[in-house]
Amino acid sequence: MDGNGRWALARGLPREAGHRAGVECVSRIIEAAPTAGIGILTLFAFSSDNWRRPRAEVAALLRLLQVYLEKEGGRSISNGIRLEIIGRRDRLGEPLRHAIGQIERDSAAGTRLRLRIAIDYSGRDAILAAARRVAALSRESLDDALGPPVDLLIRTGGERRLSDFLLWECAYAELIFSPRMWPDFDAASLAAAVREFRTRHRRFGAVPEPLIPRREAWLD
Ligand code: FPP
Repeated sequence: MDGNGRWALARGLPREAGHRAGVECVSRIIEAAPTAGIGILTLFAFSSDNWRRPRAEVAALLRLLQVYLEKEGGRSISNGIRLEIIGRRDRLGEPLRHAIGQIERDSAAGTRLRLRIAIDYSGRDAILAAARRVAALSRESLDDALGPPVDLLIRTGGERRLSDFLLWECAYAELIFSPRMWPDFDAASLAAAVREFRTRHRRFGAVPEPLIPRREAWLD
């Protein structure tokens, strides 16, 4: 969800106004996701490296997240959205932790969309934590301990990096980089990204089927 800051600065507004516009965009994209064929949506709201931002911006972002979770609770439940938060919780304030616990409990039965919001999240830390949790380290046990594999990763704001997001889960993700600033990313942009994703040939390291010679062909 990159580009909030630049979106605001281009309008002569403070960066926080960009983050507020970003929250409105989040609501629009969540509404559009099931129609676009998305069953699981993970949003990167606050990375563990974002603590390096100015204190006022960090406070504004965490406050926006808390207000969002408190306000969205009822709406998510009535819309069949199951909301879960990934990332560290021990560095978040008690009111935000409380809001997270409440919305996760209340929305647990939702089946229309599984919405995951990453807060104080680092992909490298998530892999380390999962490796410490599992009894026997293997690819399968880490698959189970981490989140679902990512099919499509969309990054806005013209950035072309993974920035420590879902590193294990993105092993075979298709990547789409949009030049749009996040507040301008709308339902049509999401639908276009999904359309592009559907044109990609996902081979997961194998060769495309028609190129594999049939056994009979060798015997002929
Ligand atoms: C990165 O771009 C964006 C963030 C660190 C914050 C994203 C947060 C939101 C959209 C709001 C809260 C989200 C939810 C789920 C309610 P940037 O803002 O640093 O933009 P820039 O690249 O233009 O500086």
